[in-house]
Amino acid sequence: MNPTTTAKPPAEKRSAQYDAFHTARARTDLVARLYAAAMGEDYPAEVAASSSCDWPLLGLMTTRLRMRPGQLLVDAGCGTGGIGLWLARALTLRLESFDLSPVAVAQAADRRTHFGIPAQRAVFHVAELEDTGLPDGCAHGIVCVDALGGADDRDAALRELGRVLAPGGRLVMTWASRRDTAPAWPERARAADLTVEHVDERPAEPALWERLYRLWIAHADELHSELGETQAERMLREAHQVLPALSGRRAVVLTLRRPANATDSRGAADTMTGPGRHDERTPQ
Ligand SMILES: C[S@@+](CC[C@H](N)C(=O)[O-])C[C@H]1O[C@@H](n2cnc3c(N)ncnc32)[C@H](O)[C@@H]1O
Repeated sequence: MNPTTTAKPPAEKRSAQYDAFHTARARTDLVARLYAAAMGEDYPAEVAASSSCDWPLLGLMTTRLRMRPGQLLVDAGCGTGGIGLWLARALTLRLESFDLSPVAVAQAADRRTHFGIPAQRAVFHVAELEDTGLPDGCAHGIVCVDALGGADDRDAALRELGRVLAPGGRLVMTWASRRDTAPAWPERARAADLTVEHVDERPAEPALWERLYRLWIAHADELHSELGETQAERMLREAHQVLPALSGRRAVVLTLRRPANATDSRGAADTMTGPGRHDERTPQ
């Protein structure tokens, strides 16, 4: 599911659309099988993302985050949660994940057990990228995979994620743009008081989307019968809309960093106690 490309309805309606997708996807393994077919050996089956998340991206996020055991990772626009859970298990992190879709959040919380992460170490909540509900400077790392395009106001979303980062913390996120235009991220990062630490090209990603969309189109009948008319039509519309633009697409992974605080280079989150830090929220 590539949210950067379709026209944007209002927030509740958008949540309903994502809810419908996650509900339909949970009923069948067809969507996962098509992602697996499109990615081949690069498909991380356990993560089962609804995005461009493959093994190379997981490896890159692991490298760029530079996190230490016990630190707090936020998975922003987590979907069904596999990316944050995988990273939290691999790096022994605390995790706070959020998504606009209550259905996705409930599914993500259910997957905690599979990853062997206790409830105190992984918290999930419903929130928007522009208003995460998280305290200032609580996160040493944030990942945001194929979700920023869902924000009504991307600049506000970036500012909000920057606010949540501890001094010295990093936001690792996917970003798609057109090849023939100057990238918008330097200016947008600056406006959010973040510095661009790395820009990693993902040259194989447009071809991945092309393979996936062609598979959706080739399996249109199965999509209809397993996901229902509305969801299948939505996916097929996306495939037909996006396919022609893929050859001009540039996909990168950005690592944006909140400048370290000169007076406390450990970052605010290192000084916090308790499992997730702001424990008034009940783990779901
Ligand atoms: C393409 S999916 C990616 C999910 C997950 N990051 C992954 O890679 O599997 C995009 C997700 O972003 C969420 N989303 C879209 N707009 C959002 C917003 N404004 N605030 C929070 N989440 C949002 C959707 O509900 C959806 O689960």
